[in-house]
Amino acid sequence: MHKHHRALGLATAPPVGVSSAAEIAKLRPVQPVTLLRPHAARRAARFFIEKFPGRSLYAVKANPSPELLELLWAEGVTHYDVASLGEVKLVAETLPGATMCFMHPVKAEEAIGEAYFTHGVRTFSLDTLDELDKILRATATGGEPATDLNLVDIVDVGGGFPSTYPGMEPPPLETYFDVIHRTFEALPISYSAELWCEPGRALCAEYASVLVRVEKRRGAELYINDGAYGALFDAAHIGWRYPVALVREEDSSVRPMAYSFYGPTCDDLDHMAGPFELPADVQPGDYIEVGMLGAYGCAMRTVFNGFTVGERVIVEDEPMASLYGAVAATRRSNVVKL
Ligand SMILES: Cc1ncc(COP(=O)(O)O)c(C=O)c1O
Repeated sequence: MHKHHRALGLATAPPVGVSSAAEIAKLRPVQPVTLLRPHAARRAARFFIEKFPGRSLYAVKANPSPELLELLWAEGVTHYDVASLGEVKLVAETLPGATMCFMHPVKAEEAIGEAYFTHGVRTFSLDTLDELDKILRATATGGEPATDLNLVDIVDVGGGFPSTYPGMEPPPLETYFDVIHRTFEALPISYSAELWCEPGRALCAEYASVLVRVEKRRGAELYINDGAYGALFDAAHIGWRYPVALVREEDSSVRPMAYSFYGPTCDDLDHMAGPFELPADVQPGDYIEVGMLGAYGCAMRTVFNGFTVGERVIVEDEPMASLYGAVAATRRSNVVKL
């Protein structure tokens, strides 16, 4: 924690071992702070490894952070769905023992060749014969097709497993797994066929949230210090609603109201319509935790308009919502008292 504290440029050290959204807000960080919950990602990985009736790959695109890759690997995720040469190189460097599967159905021939010859990739997805030709050409040696490509029958149901967001509470994951299992068993395919899935979101949505500061209020509009060009890309561009909680010293018993957010850049698109439910007395200087940003949130950050990525701090409290049944009772409201 001391390391994080120095990085935040804050004057007083937080007590060692106490790390939660509320503790970080007490330090009054000027920049948005990404709160990382390794225990939540571990729990998600264990769930898939133990309960999915086949092999679970991790779709690296959802969050390519090396710390996350390492902790998924430690929980037993051995196969990684990579979609670009950049992801191939990242996984090769971070997890030298991992098996990479190049799952983008449209690949550059040069990328296939480099993945195969330099990084040992042997599994490539395709959905057209053109792509098969490309893979065979790119992996051939002296005009001879490669003989070590992974040609076992695999039924890969892909990603797309849900996470939980306001207004989008999905059925339990076990229900998805049961349907997939029953359907797979009924397919007229070889007994040796394998069942795979490649979740991104479900493995890492709960891994991170972001603590933002309110810079200005204008009626039901809050100007916050992160936005469409930061971790809230999906909130702005596809109207995704994330869970939010006011994190402040004095309790707020004021009833909630619906807000929209503006991000920090001077850009029309930096607007998140929400609605985000927060107490009616939110003021500039307040902190808000925006949850479930571990997937397609932190990974989408840019430095547009001079705003930086900000600090990352490991916290031990529970995520704001969970598919894995582990949200602390104190976090079920939209107010967290310091
Ligand atoms: C080929 C492929 N696999 C897996 C995923 C992960 O999807 P999700 O994060 O919805 O699980 C994606 C997402 O775009 C994808 O394109």
